[in-house]
Amino acid sequence: MDTAGTDTTLDITATPEWAALADHHRTLAGRHLRDLFAEDPDRGRRLTADAGDLHLDWSKHRVTDETVRLLVALAERAGLRERIDAMFRGEHVNPTEDRAVLHVALRAPAGAALTVDGQDVTGDVHGVLARMRSFAGRVRSGEWRGHTGQPIRAVVNIGIGGSDLGPAMAYTALRDSTDRGVTARFVSNVDPTDFAEATLGLDPAQTLFVVSSKTFTTLETLTNARVARQWLLDGLGGEESAVAKHFVAVSTNTDAVREFGIDPENMFEFWDWVGGRYSFTSAIGLSLMVAIGPDAYDEMLAGFHTIDEHFRTAPFAANLPVLQGLLNVWYTDFFGAQTHAVLPYSQYLSRLPAYLQQLTMESNGKSVRWDGQPATTATGEVYWGEPGTNGQHAFHQLLHQGTTLVPADFIGFGEPNHDIGEMHDLLMANMFAQSAVLAFGRTAEEVAADGTPAELVPHKVMPGNRPSTTILAPKLTPSTLGQLVALYEHTVMTQGVIWQIDSFDQWGVELGKVMARELEPALTSAEAPRVDQDPSTTALVEHYRRLRGR
Ligand code: F6P
Repeated sequence: MDTAGTDTTLDITATPEWAALADHHRTLAGRHLRDLFAEDPDRGRRLTADAGDLHLDWSKHRVTDETVRLLVALAERAGLRERIDAMFRGEHVNPTEDRAVLHVALRAPAGAALTVDGQDVTGDVHGVLARMRSFAGRVRSGEWRGHTGQPIRAVVNIGIGGSDLGPAMAYTALRDSTDRGVTARFVSNVDPTDFAEATLGLDPAQTLFVVSSKTFTTLETLTNARVARQWLLDGLGGEESAVAKHFVAVSTNTDAVREFGIDPENMFEFWDWVGGRYSFTSAIGLSLMVAIGPDAYDEMLAGFHTIDEHFRTAPFAANLPVLQGLLNVWYTDFFGAQTHAVLPYSQYLSRLPAYLQQLTMESNGKSVRWDGQPATTATGEVYWGEPGTNGQHAFHQLLHQGTTLVPADFIGFGEPNHDIGEMHDLLMANMFAQSAVLAFGRTAEEVAADGTPAELVPHKVMPGNRPSTTILAPKLTPSTLGQLVALYEHTVMTQGVIWQIDSFDQWGVELGKVMARELEPALTSAEAPRVDQDPSTTALVEHYRRLRGR
């Protein structure tokens, strides 16, 4: 048992519940979705579930009621209920870092009783939210003035990973709700092009940088922040006092913020019980709040909270994140699927796949269980995707006729953000058509009946039987975006618990960071350096130095 009361030595594949699923898979694997629908035509209406504004249709999955019953039994056996409760109680469900995981507290209403190590946290959360609201209001109204007395017209978030992807994705998603008078830009990459392009055309006198970093030690972010500082000073005559009016920080590390030269008065705090990729609704959302305004931001938090509560309370068989997580386990572990496509039929959600890549792959890309033993299951899928209909003209060919099984999520909305002629209906018709063709395909007989020449028939057969979920919401709004993101956050946790892995650490990213720091002098030193690396890396460094004329 770990501190959160879970049997961390359980090998889930050795349980009777796993064996029952393996048996069941043998009977179901050869069955086609066409047959499942023929037997149960009502499943299109029946195999759906709702939470908040989200309607989730999972009828086009290779499952029956029995599959769901067995998957739910697996979740119970894995201790998912206890783990969810432990998370909400603020217990240390991140064992390798010995930390609580309480991003749900970031969107809980004031007064909710959530504690970490005996300390109430909702009071702290709402204290920071109040400061964010006041700051965002002052920037938006023009009351916050830059060094030369001009109002702020551009907010540049400097951060990477979880300190970038959430607000960057949401800024694109919620463009419709933004104050178009204040633009937000995002710098993440240590590639100098990123900074150069993000600041192109900006007036330093009207630009505010939000340096966002949980640790405030991340090489990329601190490098970009130093470059930004110089850019500002160069643009405003070099007076150090300008920094205070043009830089704020979001971090858990007050000392490092002070050391960087940002007054902790201008720092928005969060806490180590918020994981980087789960930090979107912490003060990391500050640039987004400036862009969309505190009211819309509150609506987004309320959307998150709706799904948090649903996850906490709904029975597993009607619990959207649990169902979604269990279906992912079903395909990953029993059908051998290795990737998962996210296909939002909304151009505004173009960054959602990138956001979900960090959320899912940094969380569940693990091969060791909680107890340090090798994982006995396959774990995290490769997430990828693009908005429809663009993806249809690019990679859907493989989804339809390739040899790889790719479960897909289709995400669409009833009402468009911009209603232009019939365009939205056309967009949605495409979405419904894609999931139908994936599921039902087209048989050789059907193709031949169209008069297709015999030699072309095999090329035009659409195998079908390719599973997908359809998620429908009334309209893309701050609230529905919050609901969607929370759905995926809790889906990730569900899978992690079944796989008995720590979805909240990320040790695998550390070694590369250390090595990059070690290698940098070898790239930049004037004399030919000794590179203490493998022969391949040494040869690449030598080649790079020649390219740089060193
Ligand atoms: O390198 C991975 C990571 O630690 C992510 O988990 C995190 O979101 C990102 O780096 C940025 O970290 P920080 O917010 O501390 O700068």
